[in-house]
Amino acid sequence: MDREKGIIDRLFDSSDASDEELRLLLEADASIDAYLFQRADEIRQKIYGKEVYLRGLIEFTNHCKNNCYYCGIRCGNRELERYRLSKEEILECCREGYALGYRTFVLQGGEDPYYTDEMICDIVSSIHGLYPDCAITLSVGEKEKSSYQAYFDAGARRYLLRHETANDAHYRQLHPSVMSSAHRQQCLFDLKEIGYQVGTGIMVGSPFQTTEDILEDIRFMQKLDPDMIGIGPYLTHPDTPFADQQNGSLDTTLRLLALFRLMFPYVLLPATTALGTIHPKGRELGLKAGANVVMPNLSPTAFRELYSLYENKICTGDEAAQCRNCLERRVQGVGYEIVTSVGDCAKFRK
Ligand code: 5AD
Ligand code: FES
Repeated sequence: MDREKGIIDRLFDSSDASDEELRLLLEADASIDAYLFQRADEIRQKIYGKEVYLRGLIEFTNHCKNNCYYCGIRCGNRELERYRLSKEEILECCREGYALGYRTFVLQGGEDPYYTDEMICDIVSSIHGLYPDCAITLSVGEKEKSSYQAYFDAGARRYLLRHETANDAHYRQLHPSVMSSAHRQQCLFDLKEIGYQVGTGIMVGSPFQTTEDILEDIRFMQKLDPDMIGIGPYLTHPDTPFADQQNGSLDTTLRLLALFRLMFPYVLLPATTALGTIHPKGRELGLKAGANVVMPNLSPTAFRELYSLYENKICTGDEAAQCRNCLERRVQGVGYEIVTSVGDCAKFRK
C-alpha cells in the first residue's frame, strides 16, 4: 500500500508515472481507491472548484453505416427501428435546452450519410446564429479533414470522437476490417490541427481489453493531449455479436476516472450515461472520483429508446426538464454545483 500511495502522490505532483507504476495501480485491489479518489478530487477542486459543467446531448440519428461489434445501432442490427431528426426538430431541442440553461449543445449521431456536409453545416450555422453564446459540439464520427474544416467554419468548435482502443489488434477485435485505429487516430489529430477542442475516450472493460491496452490508451492520450476524455463501462447489447460478453466494471471505470484526473489535471471528464446505467449512483461516484461534466439528454422523448447503444440505458422516459432537475439534485447531493456557462476546458482560460 505504501508503494501505491507513493505512486499516487507522484502522479499528483508530476502528472506522470512509468508503465510499471501505472500497471500496479490499474491492477491493485480496492484498498487504494479511497486515497486515489481523495487526491483526484483535490486536484479537481484546485482547478475547477466544485463546478460541474452541463452539456445538452441531442442524439439526432440512429442510422449508422458502421458495424462495430459492440454497438446496438450498428448497421447489421435489423431489429432496431431507425429515426432521423429534421433540422427543425434539432433546433427545437436547442430552444428547449437554452430555456433550461444549457449553453453547450452536443449533436451526436451514427455515421449517417443522409446528412451531407452541407446539411450539417446548415444545422451548425443555424444554431450558431440563433445562440451565439453557446458552444456547438459535434460527434458524428470519422470524416474527411475538409469536412471537419467546413463544420468548423460553420461554427462548430468542439468534436467528440473516442479512439475506442489505441491497440491495433484490439481495435480489430472490436471492429470489422474496413475500420482502422490508425484512421480514427488520424481524424483526432486532423481535428486538433483545425483548432477544435477535442474529446477522445474508451469503453472500460470492452471485450478482450487488457491492462496493456489501457496503458497504450493512456500513452496515446498523452500524445493527443485532449480537452475531454469520455469513458464509461462497456455494456453489452443483445442484438450484437458481443451479446454474450460481460459488462465492464464500475470499479475499474471509477479508478480510471481518478487516474485521468491526476494525469490530465485540466481535462473535462464526463460522468457518463453508461456509468449511470451500470449503477444507480454511478454518476455521483464518478463526480467524487474526479469527473466534472454531465451530459443530460435533450433528444425528444419519443426517440430516446431507439438510440440504444447498449441495454437498459437510463433516462429514456424523461423529458428534458426532468433530466435537468434530476441531475441538478444528483450533483448537489454529492456536494458539487452545476454551472450553466459554456464551461471551457481550463487550458483555454489561461
Ligand atoms: N457499451 C458502452 N459504450 C458504448 N458505446 C458504443 N457502444 C457501447 C456499448 N455497448 C460508446 C462508444 C462510442 C460512444 C458514442 O458510445 O465508445 O464512441
Ligand atoms: Fe435524466 Fe436523471 S438525468 S432522469
